[in-house]
Amino acid sequence: MRFSAFSLFALSSLFVSSLAAPTSIQTRDVAVAEVEQRDASAVAVQERTLPEIVVIVDGLVKEVFSYTAAINVTISSCESISIDFTKKIEIIAGIQVQIQKIIAAFSLATLKIYQLKLVELIEIDFKLLVSLAIKVWIEIIYTLLYAAAVLKITIIELLGWTFTLFLHGYISFLLAIGAVVAKFIASIKIDFQIYLFIISKVFVNFGALLAACK
Ligand SMILES: *[C@@H]1O[C@H](CO)[C@@H](O)[C@H](O)[C@H]1NC(C)=O
Repeated sequence: MRFSAFSLFALSSLFVSSLAAPTSIQTRDVAVAEVEQRDASAVAVQERTLPEIVVIVDGLVKEVFSYTAAINVTISSCESISIDFTKKIEIIAGIQVQIQKIIAAFSLATLKIYQLKLVELIEIDFKLLVSLAIKVWIEIIYTLLYAAAVLKITIIELLGWTFTLFLHGYISFLLAIGAVVAKFIASIKIDFQIYLFIISKVFVNFGALLAACK
């Protein structure tokens, strides 16, 4: 296996350190470049019909990007003006609406993945799935960090009551991928646990960051 657990691990640690220092553009660019490099594998698979699971996850990523784009539009319009308390509450509520759409998109994708009858993947599809799962996570987190910075609040304050649903939605989605690809993984002898472990490490560090935020 050329795609090593190590490269994913390196990416996660980069990602975690970039969360810890959201102002570090350089770290962030390295993380993004790493993901984009993975995306290059997408070009190779375009030659053939993509397995349905990849189509589902790819569609999810596109959908999520439309919601983060909407959040960015709202936030960038706040950047140069001073916002009073009432306005801030209103903006936060608006962002939470987008977050709910993101959560709904994750639930639907999770459901669709569980409904797949037969999942046949080749190694490149698996890499692509992992890359998409990380890409969507990075996109959401960077968007939230940006919004939190402009509004001068923490991510927890920004997400409010949607926070647990959001984490739960993402974890369920990862578990669905894990469950469905488990057979494939066994057949090529990679331990998906390793990947889940690495991704869960990102969560643990994310939790620590949130706790330290205030
Ligand atoms: C939204 O903004 C964040 C922070 O600048 C960025 O990381 C993300 O890619 C942007 N998303 C879209 C869809 O423009």
